[in-house]
Amino acid sequence: MLPQSVKLVEVGPRDGLQNEPGAVPTAAKVTLIEALAAAGLPVIEAGSFVSPKWVPQMADTADVLAALRRRPGVSYPVLVPNTKGLEAALAATGVEEIAVFGAASESFSRRNTNCSIAEGLARFAGVIAGARDAGLRVRGYVSCVLGCPYEGAVEPSAVARVAGELFDMGCYEVSLGDTIGTGTPLAAQRMVDAVAGRVPRDRLAAHFHDTYGQALANLLAVMERGIATIDSSVSGLGGCPYARGASGNVATEDVLYMLNGMGIETGVDMAALLRAGAGIGAALGRPPASRVGRALAER
Ligand code: HMG
Ligand code: MG
Repeated sequence: MLPQSVKLVEVGPRDGLQNEPGAVPTAAKVTLIEALAAAGLPVIEAGSFVSPKWVPQMADTADVLAALRRRPGVSYPVLVPNTKGLEAALAATGVEEIAVFGAASESFSRRNTNCSIAEGLARFAGVIAGARDAGLRVRGYVSCVLGCPYEGAVEPSAVARVAGELFDMGCYEVSLGDTIGTGTPLAAQRMVDAVAGRVPRDRLAAHFHDTYGQALANLLAVMERGIATIDSSVSGLGGCPYARGASGNVATEDVLYMLNGMGIETGVDMAALLRAGAGIGAALGRPPASRVGRALAER
């Protein structure tokens, strides 16, 4: 049975922009986040406190947070990989939620965070405990849930193990990342069913990249398996710096069009979302990249 409503988690300002080669001005990031909040997105990932040597584009996250005019009721989480990142998040303006990120594949864990899966989880234990002591909510990510750019196939049981540990450590929600977008619907359902043995389905989110054009099909497939939280990126922005060939997340506009057509509530306004997409497109010098944005722009 499909959900009656879906929570959309907008990751464009972080997952979308982190891979942009040219420096995106802080003001353009702030404008984007404010436009997304105005469109009704309830959660907008605003940046990350990672090493600027690894991801230079996110080096101004504290400035973004300082400049942001916040909307009541909207959450603006930031990614944190270690205690240094947590300290920066706690020192920044208005952080109420962070996200930690692990992987279901050893090679990707090393490339993305320079440590093994187990070392990463041990780090996160301290980060999660420290964040919760400080009153922050913590979301967890697992990357490579349907395939790894270095190892190929990933076992659902490996995903379930990492997701389960993050949940047990105190993550209120665990987002399942098809980082390289190689998944297909039945594999996505099998993976979710395996993870649901460790984490309740209503605490899981689907974070699917659209590299192979499978993301909407995969989302529908996992919604049929009880997933009602979907991560997406306005205008399909993005990729992952440590997963060659990874394209953007599924576009928020395309997900919204599908959900609207099925009568599933999100609270997000399409016209305002399209304006947000057009705004960041203009800042980056690119036309809208979502299918829906292109179709509606041509009319
Ligand atoms: P490391 O090199 O092992 O770290 O990197 P280190 O502790 O040895 O520190 C090295 C240098 O980085 C030091 O500076 C530290 O101070 C600094 P130096 O002494 O050389 O001048 N440093 C930091 N600076 C600022 N903030 C920090 C921080 N930590 C260390 N938090 C580390 C390990 C985890 C830091 C690094 O690998 C890293 O930052 N990785 C992040 C990579 C990243 O952001 N990837 C993209 C996000 S994940 C993703 O996109 C997937 C997702 O969307 C889901 C999906 O699609 O699957 C979430
Ligand atoms: Mg991602």
